[in-house]
Amino acid sequence: MNVHDSDRMVEVLRSAGGLGAERIEEADLVVFNTCSVRDKAEQKLRSAVGTLAPLKRARPQLIIAVAGCVAQQEGAALLRDLPYVDIVLGPDHVAELPALLAEQLAGAPPTSRTEFDIAAPRFLTWPTRPLASGAPERSPAIAFVTTMKGCDERCTFCIVPYTRGPERYRSAFDVVDEVQRLVELGTREVVLLGQTVDSFRDPSLPLSTFDDASDSSVAQGDESQFPALLYRLAEAVPTFDVARSNSPGLARLRYASPHPRHATASLARAHAELDVLAHHVHLPVQSGSDHVLRRMVRRYTSAEYVSRAERLMRARSGLTLSTDIIVGFPGETEVDFEQTLELVRHVGFTSIFGFKYSPRPFTPALRLGDDVSEDVKSSRLERLFELSDDLSRAHLARLVGTRQRVLVEGPSKSEKGSLAGDRVQGRTDRNEMVHLSHRGAAGLVGKIVDVTIVQANRHSLLGTLDDSTPPVRLARRRLPVVES
Ligand code: 5AD
Repeated sequence: MNVHDSDRMVEVLRSAGGLGAERIEEADLVVFNTCSVRDKAEQKLRSAVGTLAPLKRARPQLIIAVAGCVAQQEGAALLRDLPYVDIVLGPDHVAELPALLAEQLAGAPPTSRTEFDIAAPRFLTWPTRPLASGAPERSPAIAFVTTMKGCDERCTFCIVPYTRGPERYRSAFDVVDEVQRLVELGTREVVLLGQTVDSFRDPSLPLSTFDDASDSSVAQGDESQFPALLYRLAEAVPTFDVARSNSPGLARLRYASPHPRHATASLARAHAELDVLAHHVHLPVQSGSDHVLRRMVRRYTSAEYVSRAERLMRARSGLTLSTDIIVGFPGETEVDFEQTLELVRHVGFTSIFGFKYSPRPFTPALRLGDDVSEDVKSSRLERLFELSDDLSRAHLARLVGTRQRVLVEGPSKSEKGSLAGDRVQGRTDRNEMVHLSHRGAAGLVGKIVDVTIVQANRHSLLGTLDDSTPPVRLARRRLPVVES
């Protein structure tokens, strides 16, 4: 979500004539885009802004902006606490960045914009009009597309409802239109984004009709139309075809992050029927203990989670799941934590993002205290990662010798920055990372190649390029000019 927001900031600034600076010393504007979902985001921001103090003193015309959730959370108070900051910009105000910058350059006092755009929500999209600095001819190989923003859940640990506001949805028409434009211009993978992406609503879409009574956590009238959006996209967007690999076509559709409440029978059916859906779902569980889940107000039991997870895995053979887990939530006992490990083993996640509970401003869990010691949180996290490493190692080992289709993303991490290198990395449809060595591999970036897996590492795979991979070159096209 933050990467997406940062990309949109770059675009609005570029379309207003801005240019990226190579070094921070050369910049006229520095934007800190912040995330406050965990850890000490406010302190980190304070020290990051502090490092710019000498620059700002030497060059008072340097404009410093703070964007993202810390900006939203702290608002105008940031201007008082951090005297070098000129602009505070909540996530709903990104489009105003160039205008606010112009005001600052003209000598306006420091300013803060943090109201939520509830009456007329605006969504950040890939640009429809050619940029002032020249039209982009290609869309990114992997593109994020916002479908909704904000969150109406009230998970007691989570700051998101307070920093991103209530749920607001784009129209299905706009989502489909943006995906079509991206795919037409070269995008191969689309990730639909939303804080609870699967609670999508659009009255113009049909209601899902396959849901069964076992989905007790989704009340009548509260059913999501997310599966219908997936069907609409699959119908309206051309799909990737290996035989015509130079033509536009969507190879993979992903979404992040769904709430298990809406992982309904209809969603599983979409996975069974739509080939374009990636064979992977990131489905945050947070805990495997009913006692903890209740205190988190997740609105499902561990048994309900497991049955929904299994329904998804049954829907499409080879579908894998990853998850988020918080350890050391207030009141979490050793027994609770062991139930989490048990659920992890039972479901067999192929990767896990684990976090120590961190008390967040405004959240209801603050009232529960923070009674699990730092040592216990650390040791639980370590145990969780041991189990998660075992599971992912075993999963990756099973893939040795298989053929996989990989979307090449860029130079291998170890060689970042040197695009001339012959080692690139990309992901399979299930999100496994594959490294690939090949002469002139840099030329494969953004392309889809077939690979034989020859080795499994701790967190990634090593592959060799299949000779059968046809050379992939996308036709260059002009960006259509669209009035908006
Ligand atoms: N403490 C620790 N982890 C948190 N997350 C969200 N809020 C907190 C918190 N207060 C984690 C959850 C969520 C992920 C994005 O961050 O696991 O799914």
